[in-house]
Amino acid sequence: MGRKKELANFVYPKDNKMMKFLFCLLTAFVVFPSVAQQVAVLNSPNKGIQLSTTKNAEGQLLYQVQLKGKEIISPSSLGFVLKKPAMELKKFTVLGIDSSAVSTNWKPIWGEVKEIANQYNELVLHTSSNGILIDLIFRVFDDGVGLRYYFPVQANFQHFIVDQELTQFNMSGDHTAFWIPGDYDTNEYTYNKTKLSEIDATTAAAKEKDIAVTALMGKNVVQTPLMMKSANGFYLNIHEAALMNYPAMHLRLDQTTQTFQSMLVPDAVGNKAYLQTPFSTPWRTMVMSEKAEKILESKLILNLNEPAKFGDSTWIKPQKFMGMWWEMHIGKANWPLAGGKHGANTANVKKYIDFAAQHGFDGVLVEGWNQGWEDWFGNWKEEVFDFVSPYPDYAIDSLTQYAQSKGLRLIMHHETSGSATNYERRMDEAYQYMVSKGINTVKTGYVGKIIPRGEHHDSQWMVNHYNRVAEKAAKYHLMVDSHESVHPTGLHRTYPNWMAAEAARGSEFNNAPTLGIIPDHTTILPFTRLMGGPMDYTPGLFHMSLNQFDSTRTQKVRSTLAKQLALYVTIHSPLQMAADLPENYEAHLDAFQFIKDVAVDWDDTKVLSAEPGDYVSIACKAKNKDTWFIGSITDENARNVSLPLDFLDAGTAYEALLYRDADDADFEKNPEAYVIEKKLVSKSSNLTFRLQRGGGCAVVLKKL
Ligand code: NOJ
Ligand code: CA
Repeated sequence: MGRKKELANFVYPKDNKMMKFLFCLLTAFVVFPSVAQQVAVLNSPNKGIQLSTTKNAEGQLLYQVQLKGKEIISPSSLGFVLKKPAMELKKFTVLGIDSSAVSTNWKPIWGEVKEIANQYNELVLHTSSNGILIDLIFRVFDDGVGLRYYFPVQANFQHFIVDQELTQFNMSGDHTAFWIPGDYDTNEYTYNKTKLSEIDATTAAAKEKDIAVTALMGKNVVQTPLMMKSANGFYLNIHEAALMNYPAMHLRLDQTTQTFQSMLVPDAVGNKAYLQTPFSTPWRTMVMSEKAEKILESKLILNLNEPAKFGDSTWIKPQKFMGMWWEMHIGKANWPLAGGKHGANTANVKKYIDFAAQHGFDGVLVEGWNQGWEDWFGNWKEEVFDFVSPYPDYAIDSLTQYAQSKGLRLIMHHETSGSATNYERRMDEAYQYMVSKGINTVKTGYVGKIIPRGEHHDSQWMVNHYNRVAEKAAKYHLMVDSHESVHPTGLHRTYPNWMAAEAARGSEFNNAPTLGIIPDHTTILPFTRLMGGPMDYTPGLFHMSLNQFDSTRTQKVRSTLAKQLALYVTIHSPLQMAADLPENYEAHLDAFQFIKDVAVDWDDTKVLSAEPGDYVSIACKAKNKDTWFIGSITDENARNVSLPLDFLDAGTAYEALLYRDADDADFEKNPEAYVIEKKLVSKSSNLTFRLQRGGGCAVVLKKL
């Protein structure tokens, strides 16, 4: 059970009410001109991280973070510019200080581990700025810091419009950064790795001909989650948690001072957020460690989200699915009925159901099932789909019954073509329709310009839309997988039916004509996009030349087959697709066995070794089972891997079944060459294998 107590190691000079009162008075009212005056200091529970807050001569409040004595965040200021009432909230008077320590445990409904420790020390600076009351709230965990603003209920200040948020993240050096360009409308970019001083988002975006919709924010603006590595040996990830009723945060870098400032996505008329007291902003998160592996094991972002309010969650089920999907991306079939290549016809979908059922899958996604695909793309049309009208050659009733008779379900597809207003109007009817067909999972999509016109994918209105979808779907007991949605911020704790999102460059970009997916992409995703939550990456491609049905295509999947298997462990999601075609799996049924066996819900996760842009090895223990799965992947470089298995139970032998790159495998020259081999291992073993260029290794560890 939880305990919340006043924090012993914070309040100085002494933890008693009178001293605290005096201390507050001191910090609030004594001014030392031109010298930064200390306001409060707070340590993490293990004292590894120290947060200090100061006030400068101009009256600004600054925060600063150290990790084991190393400066991680140099003094950084806070505040807002409001549009209405028009005023700046930059100078703060501290009215009082509270602190507390929290140590609780909670059990996620699904996820990487069965129990999560939520342990932090909290500091609340009650302030006023320009007559407005604002609380600045800091939580210091052993693996990082969260900060948010809270506007309490107060006289004469109820409704307000945010013009700018002025939160700074002042970097202590010219770190190496893994970044994508700031963009109001898409996060489906390739990652760039440069020094902070070398960030050039405009040039990077210009190379991205694969992306149709862009609303660039400038040369020095990047998106979060932003991953960095310092020259003096620490890793830092900046992102946000609990993004609700507020636009997404991007970061604008001042390249002379290496200081980021929050940059909020505007609405159609340039405003950022329409708010009403009481209001809490999302948390600004800084996850930090000297070890890259610890960044990936952090639960800070989840801990900063509210618990689920669902009474009954038994209807939420992690699942593996196949899809009448990739064959349209690679030109075998197509979404519209017109044109003679309609993929979602009854006979074809039946084939998918048969194959998926035979191999134990939970679902089959069908895209192109509904009327409207003849003219859906790149339009400003308000009404493209109604989400309840199947094409005449798609016998939805008999197919849903057929699927259920075989023990699986169809997964519904709702492409909105960006018209969120149309979707909002039709959501109830669409979800009732799903329920009437026994379908319990929906993949949503927002390709193209957003309607309401002028809104962006990441603006406050759309953030509220995605959250409304999750809430409404929950009322109908439906699970959601959103594509083209805003970067996740740990809201899957609050909405555990929002199983996964795309919100980054997914595997479908293997088919993109220019940059596509390069081998290091999947070694960066865990440090960036996945910090916010599970991704529907759609791994499992076995046929790497994408000219199977269209000889004009020169695109190739830049991965070995064994790496495609390993991605089921390194890219966490409770909703995992086996993306390739049944015939391509038929050709490698022995390797397909790994996809059949791999779990999608876990009791435990250990990040064994990882370096952004280079390699990632993760071990996960299947829910309620003794079986462990390991995924190990590399970038374009081959490497020898040796993984200590000390997480295994003592006193038992395990059989390790390795699906590894063949000795002559290579993502460019020989991607489909793999070897399946057994080894006998135990807790004291090191598991060794070689990853070839663009390669991977997937392992099943079973107790003997
Ligand atoms: C983009 C999605 O990411 C993809 O999975 C889908 O097939 C297309 N939109 C069509 O909706
Ligand atoms: Ca997409």
